Amino acid sequence: MRIFHLSAECYPVAKVGGLADVVGALPKYQNLAGLQAAVVMPYYNRKFVQENEFDTVFQASTLLGTRRLYFEILKEKTDKLGFELYLVKIPGLIDREEVYSYPDETEQFIAFQIAFLDWINYSQQSPDIIHCHDHHSGLVPFLLKHSKLYTRLANTPTVFTIHNGQYHGAFGWDKLAYLPEIDLYKTGLLDWNGAINPLACAVKCCWKYTTVSPTYLYELTINSNGLEYLFYMEHAKGFGILNGIDTEVWDPKTDPMIPKKFSVTQIAKGKQADKEILCTRFDFSPDKPLISFIGRLVVEKGADLIASAMERSFNEHEGKFNFLVLGAGDKETETELLELKSFYPEQCNVFIGYDEALAHLIYAGSDFLLMPSRVEPCGLNQLYALRYGTMPMVRTTGGLKDTVIDFGDEGGYGIRYNNASVEDICDAVSRALVLYENNTQLQSLRKTMMSLDFSWDRSAKEYIDLYKSLTPII
Ligand code: ADP
Ligand code: GLC
Repeated sequence: MRIFHLSAECYPVAKVGGLADVVGALPKYQNLAGLQAAVVMPYYNRKFVQENEFDTVFQASTLLGTRRLYFEILKEKTDKLGFELYLVKIPGLIDREEVYSYPDETEQFIAFQIAFLDWINYSQQSPDIIHCHDHHSGLVPFLLKHSKLYTRLANTPTVFTIHNGQYHGAFGWDKLAYLPEIDLYKTGLLDWNGAINPLACAVKCCWKYTTVSPTYLYELTINSNGLEYLFYMEHAKGFGILNGIDTEVWDPKTDPMIPKKFSVTQIAKGKQADKEILCTRFDFSPDKPLISFIGRLVVEKGADLIASAMERSFNEHEGKFNFLVLGAGDKETETELLELKSFYPEQCNVFIGYDEALAHLIYAGSDFLLMPSRVEPCGLNQLYALRYGTMPMVRTTGGLKDTVIDFGDEGGYGIRYNNASVEDICDAVSRALVLYENNTQLQSLRKTMMSLDFSWDRSAKEYIDLYKSLTPII
């Protein structure tokens, strides 16, 4: 079965968040299960692209409105990622360094989708499934069905995965002309609230949509930035499939990014050695509990609550624990956190920026990982933390609810709280500190955490079952 995954991100080619991790792993596990899954993404002028070799497999020109665009499809030569990787390169439009945030982002992603469709159409490819991820490829299900250019492909089954329903990629109707010739009776499918909304359009036009956790499937009907009614109406087409993690990349036994490797049979020593290295780097005492936060500093992640909650906790538990942040995002939150660090230099440190290797070291060397998310469609951080014996402290929402059981409940191994609020975070910190005092219980919980299985094997199979339900070919 031939699958094309379309995505704006894919690890290790270009990563901003968890979307990259999923698209860099799921196809690999699907291929191990006997599928032929490939990834198609925009070309970014980044390290991976500069350091690897590509063949040009297709060249053509297409139209974005009246603008003629020359594009090429590049294929990574070795398939070393465990799947075929294709890049869509459009000189002057899709050949830059950053993944998001350019003023002409709408044009970039429309052009990406058109170039992909032109390529598979004119090169006579007939994939069994086109699997689109998030709004950046959300127009594909519509264009396949309703653009006169792609009638040969009109019956290709499409699956659309929603990694984040807060971002829709909406743009004004004045840009309709950027789309290839479409059936004008169908333009209503593009619309939500007076704008062209790629996320809404994908949900309406795809054959099936999935969310990255079962709870998030339901939550979209009550919180999706204005699409609640749509998700309510379309819910019969939706499936919640929990993300997995790439257990080859995220393995404390072999991880090249952590100095001291460790396994479930000798957690305490290995983890403590990594903690000492991490603490030396950030001027902390390794004897105190270390709580960390990794992630985008945005309201969705509850990052705006952290500085106040930690200030209160530092005062309540004077000198008893340390707190480390790795992240970047809203400038106001970055400033608050840097101020917190300057007020509590011995207890708090903040690294503003993106650093993959440091993230691995933090998962390995921390005792607890704070995730006070307001919205968390799945969340991978808590899964990485668990794999490295670090206890997640999560707000009960989305994928956090589906993956973390409170250690106070039967079979539990994490800390959960109900509200994204300063009070709940402070309570969670207090519970963490009490638990830390009970070393026997903590070590036993670490064993439980590291023995959990959140690998892709199960979830990859659920996607395959979904694909099979859409196509008779196996
Ligand atoms: P989201 O995709 O919403 O940001 P996820 O939990 O799904 O959240 O995935 C976040 C991914 O990005 C994880 O792999 C995490 O380790 C990584 N990450 C987030 N921020 C940083 C950062 N500043 N430096 C390094 N890795 C980061
Ligand atoms: C999104 C979500 C996150 C999820 C990730 C991968 O970025 O915010 O919760 O884990 O996608 O699916």
